[in-house]
Amino acid sequence: MSQNNEQLVKKAFIAMENAYAPYSNYHVGAALRLKNGVEIIGANIENASFGATCCAERNAIFQTYSQGYRKDDIESIAIVSDGKYLAGPCGICRQVLSELLPQDAPIILSNGKETMVTNINELLPLQFGIKDVL
Ligand code: THU
Repeated sequence: MSQNNEQLVKKAFIAMENAYAPYSNYHVGAALRLKNGVEIIGANIENASFGATCCAERNAIFQTYSQGYRKDDIESIAIVSDGKYLAGPCGICRQVLSELLPQDAPIILSNGKETMVTNINELLPLQFGIKDVL
């Protein structure tokens, strides 16, 4: 793995420490790297009304857009968890990433034991998106 990707994974593990996950006890961290070098983090934040929970990667990418950045500003994202198995993003996050992340942006997954680099095009084939609605 490249040094940039390794550094981003480390940052995602630091972000994971901020997870609020009293129900699942499953902690997720995300770190998004912009082309200008800025890094934006997110963690999963749960809620007693389970459906109101927001995943780490969605928090990171929504924060990115909230700060005024857009798809073209994004270089890559690392998503990490403390799970037993290497996990990919959930279905809702794949849908969100498919609209807000560049198709070829590296998505680096890690659980500390295994690491994989993929992209949203691989994770979500035959995407439903803006082209279908507008
Ligand atoms: N979670 C994420 O943060 N990202 C994913 O892509 C999968 C699931 C969180 C949501 C919930 O807080 C916990 O992991 C268990 O589902």
